[in-house]
Amino acid sequence: MADGFCSELASMEPMVASVIQPVIQLDHQATTPCDPAVVEAMAPWWTAQWANPASRSHRPGLLAAAAVTRARERIAAALAVEPEAVVFTSGATEANNLALKGLAEAELERGGSRRHLICLSTEHRAVLDPLRYLARHGFELTELAVGSDGLLDLAQLEACLRPDTLLVSVMAANNEIGVLQPLAEIAALCRQRGITLHSDGAQALGHIPLQPAALGLDLLSASAHKLYGPKGIGLLVVRPGLRLAPQLHGGGQEHGLRAGTLPVPLIVGMAAALELALEDQQARAQRLGALRDQLWQGLQALGGVQRNGAAAPRLPHNLNVCISGVEGSALQRRLRDTLAVSSGSACSAGEPSHVLQALGLSRPQAAASLRFGLGRHTTSTEIAAAIAAVTAAVQELRRGGPGGA
Ligand SMILES: Cc1ncc(COP(=O)(O)O)c(C=O)c1O
Repeated sequence: MADGFCSELASMEPMVASVIQPVIQLDHQATTPCDPAVVEAMAPWWTAQWANPASRSHRPGLLAAAAVTRARERIAAALAVEPEAVVFTSGATEANNLALKGLAEAELERGGSRRHLICLSTEHRAVLDPLRYLARHGFELTELAVGSDGLLDLAQLEACLRPDTLLVSVMAANNEIGVLQPLAEIAALCRQRGITLHSDGAQALGHIPLQPAALGLDLLSASAHKLYGPKGIGLLVVRPGLRLAPQLHGGGQEHGLRAGTLPVPLIVGMAAALELALEDQQARAQRLGALRDQLWQGLQALGGVQRNGAAAPRLPHNLNVCISGVEGSALQRRLRDTLAVSSGSACSAGEPSHVLQALGLSRPQAAASLRFGLGRHTTSTEIAAAIAAVTAAVQELRRGGPGGA
């Protein structure tokens, strides 16, 4: 069904497609719009200033290199780390691969004997899949269960730590249910044992305070398109002194850790986006938290609606609910022309969410769940309209329309 819908859209002229696009956009955890100020900051680096920053033999190349240096410094300052700690990647997926596979391979190369890896069962596929890959190549992986509220139990983590544990990877904020994990406490457990701690911060950076060194993280992944920056750029923060094996070999860029011509416009855009996101972070969190509460109250009036994940601590702009008495795909179909929401991660290819199932939901319950991701421009009027749209759809399905459960 979704495939048919996609090819139908793909065959339309962009203008026509834009007319029928959903009017209420509440899928900001899949991605965010690039802020116009960010687009403006990037503009000259696509056209007038197009030189390769590795071309050090001429002025345009040196200017491009200076723009990268400046952007790296601004990002480092925002994260309170040294500029050398910032490695640019194509996004959080690549940053996670570099962190996890790079660490494991470096351990093999130095003849170390740590082979045990730990992550949460609710991690994004961009963490789970590289770790499962490593588990097929000589490492042992523990995927830790979380509570029905989506939170890690620190005592359970501590019980899993072993002398040969190399790495713990715990996401800062969950992309589906928005819960925040206790990173500082996890870091304390890891530090005592010489275990490297990685965190996937793709959903957290720019939205909540997140300073890797202060938290005691060794590795932090992030992505610009989750914080009103461009798609196709992300970063990995690497604690000074920590060795990783490069995963992309070539021209030796990024201190030999990530080869490939640096995308100057995207790097400049990521720096601008991060600064903008931090500028209004607190005010945005307060405003969106209030709108999220308005949404939650409105949806509860339907009855048979349960929030997925702990009420706190969580991202202010996330709400994930399970709606009883409806069939998930029917609900999605009914909503898709008026409301852009999702039933799980944008990367989960239509499968009922592994995150929601880890919380104890059945497959049909997971499928009948909706993730709302509010954004910088979301208004109270849109929230009211979203409540009305979901209410109408659910009531109709519960009355026995096709897809009522
Ligand atoms: C928690 C998390 N990690 C990683 C990713 C992948 O990020 P990117 O699209 O930058 O590769 C996402 C995006 O959905 C995410 O939410």
